[in-house]
Amino acid sequence: MSAVERKTACVTGGNSYIASALIKMLLQKGYAVNTTVRNPDDMVKNSHFKDLQELGPLKVFRTDLEEQGSFDEAVAGCDYAFLVAAPVNLKSHNPQKELVEAGVQGTLNVMRPCVKAGTVRRVILTSSAVAVFMRPLEGDGHVLGESSWSDFDYLTSAANEKSPGISSVFPQLLQAYSLSKLLSEKEASKVAEENGISLVTVCPVITVGPAPTAEAKPCVITVLSLLSGDKEMIGTLRLMAKAVGGLILVHVDDLCAAEIFVAENSSSSGRYICCGLNTSLLQLGRLLVAKYPQYNVDIAALGDVPDEKPRIRLSSEKLIGEGFEFRYKTIDEMYDDAFIEYGRAIGILPYK
Ligand SMILES: NC(=O)c1ccc[n+]([C@@H]2O[C@H](COP(=O)([O-])OP(=O)(O)OC[C@H]3O[C@@H](n4cnc5c(N)ncnc54)[C@H](OP(=O)(O)O)[C@@H]3O)[C@@H](O)[C@H]2O)c1
Repeated sequence: MSAVERKTACVTGGNSYIASALIKMLLQKGYAVNTTVRNPDDMVKNSHFKDLQELGPLKVFRTDLEEQGSFDEAVAGCDYAFLVAAPVNLKSHNPQKELVEAGVQGTLNVMRPCVKAGTVRRVILTSSAVAVFMRPLEGDGHVLGESSWSDFDYLTSAANEKSPGISSVFPQLLQAYSLSKLLSEKEASKVAEENGISLVTVCPVITVGPAPTAEAKPCVITVLSLLSGDKEMIGTLRLMAKAVGGLILVHVDDLCAAEIFVAENSSSSGRYICCGLNTSLLQLGRLLVAKYPQYNVDIAALGDVPDEKPRIRLSSEKLIGEGFEFRYKTIDEMYDDAFIEYGRAIGILPYK
């Protein structure tokens, strides 16, 4: 492809689990990619860039979400901007500052350069399902679509409660993280509307599957915890399952394909829930016991998580209705050998 035909996409947070997979897919599709990281010299976080650079033109920029103007150079001249980087530290001791304020300000600090660049046809913001379902919902059987927004009052009242201990602090952090994603979406929409720039938001559920990054990210440690036996992360998975009353999963390849789909599809607009499967933690446990018996998955350790009928289901009908097809639709397909091998290669799972 000639440099003239080639489109350029900026992807923020290139060392993150999701952005590393998105960069790979964009390069494979013939895009030139500008990516951003806080420290390009950190070879533990950035070792995958060398292999990705074999696939196509990939430039790496030093940026910080907390610094205004930091993204100007990376975004300049780009056709698309994929905003993936966000504070995701679920062990923060100051969630209001480090998750909520940093998340919202960080989103604005990338949105403004997108406006300033004048070349960006569309911004694709990676939000989260936690900006969709974190609201009081009575009873069972809720099917939530894009018109469902997490509730500000519910999140702020819960985030202000003080309770000690990591297991009880985590729900507060989950609430602060949810608030960060919710407010980031809202603020990004305001900037887009005020400046006439096209913004599409993708709200992924819990994401699984192999990615180029060789660093064991907390989100991957969590989704492989039933196999690794990591009790703290199994606790995190249980909390997520309890918040939904089920387990909501998407494969990282489907998520990246969906992000590119809504970028390229001119009629796409607004929010898109990206969910390949509504299931339960117990069903995941049973599948893993049968498929990978060498890892001795302890189903009893899951305790009283909901089983057959998820209390909340997230619907990706809008995405599917516009022509997107999910490739990974079952737990069996999502927790395939490639994912397990990835977990081994990055040191989360022992070779057995
Ligand atoms: N993984 C999931 O299951 C999931 C589900 C729904 C939504 N999401 C969303 O998807 C996005 C990526 O998630 P992930 O799981 O792939 O995250 P991840 O692997 O944990 O990486 C987070 C990324 O954000 C960057 N970041 C954090 N604070 C920053 C700052 N102040 N300045 C610049 N960069 C900063 C990190 O850079 P450093 O390495 O420099 O810290 C890192 O690249 C996030 O927006 C997250 O909310 C993820």
